[in-house]
Amino acid sequence: MNKVFADNILQGKVAFVTGGGTGITGGVARAFAEAGARLAITSRKQENLDAMKSAVESNGGECFSVVADVRDYAVVESAIGATVEHYGGIDIVVNGAAGNFLCKANELSANGFGTVVDIDTKGTFNVCRAAFEELKKSRGQILNISATLHYLATPMQIHVSAAKAGVDAITRNLSVEWGRYGIRVNGIAPGPIEDTEGMKRLLPPELKEKLTKRIPLQRFGRISDIENAALFLASDAANYINGVTLVVDGGQWLLGTSLG
Ligand code: HXC
Repeated sequence: MNKVFADNILQGKVAFVTGGGTGITGGVARAFAEAGARLAITSRKQENLDAMKSAVESNGGECFSVVADVRDYAVVESAIGATVEHYGGIDIVVNGAAGNFLCKANELSANGFGTVVDIDTKGTFNVCRAAFEELKKSRGQILNISATLHYLATPMQIHVSAAKAGVDAITRNLSVEWGRYGIRVNGIAPGPIEDTEGMKRLLPPELKEKLTKRIPLQRFGRISDIENAALFLASDAANYINGVTLVVDGGQWLLGTSLG
């Protein structure tokens, strides 16, 4: 695809990206760095951070990394603090850290349900809350990575559906409460995106072709599709967009095709 955005549209911005080492959010982090942002990435795994940091730096970008579990507010607060100490502030927060596995509701333990809600929903709140004062100073913005699983119902995904419905509520509530500080809060709901950990966990390879035929645009999404949506929402072109969750799924959820 031809380059659609002008160069350096995020020049001078500091982007704090959770789950920024891998997958969809890793792609968003890399795309933001290519657009001129200085990155801070978090992951629970040091090796995920190291790989992204060296990829960004070898491309001429800046990348600060912190091991952090978004479920732990004190850890999140200290990761935000370390980023502010390193760069002097934060302009963009991307909540991408997420957990998932397939499990029938009647076989899922309370702790299994709670673990995913803690990572996705509480983790998103924790990061937004801990970053608030910095975002207020920068009149910054938040981008929450959601899903479309909960728009209808997706078997074996009750935990993630509940968690992402909560994330969407956070997007809407914060957009209303924090708009007065100049903070925009939006989300992206990716559909089936190929070459991601989520798809590996959720979709047996034999079902891929069947599902592809039921996606209106007749193809799986690519990480670059989400990167472009994120660049748009983070850019000045989206200055008046607040409180939306942008669905990027080729029209898939409208057909009600379930991954379960
Ligand atoms: C049933 C499971 C399970 C499984 C874990 N649990 N895996 N239950 N089926 N496959 C249960 C455990 O039994 C335990 O409950 C509880 O969940 C916590 O498990 P832990 O392994 O102790 O948790 P933890 O080490 O914190 O790992 C979190 C995790 C794991 C979510 C379970 O999968 C993870 O770390 N994932 C991160 C990477 C990831 O999932 N990326 C994909 C995101 S994709 P008990 O009761 O036994 O104590 C995504 C896309 C969504 O989010 C949209 C797609 C379209």
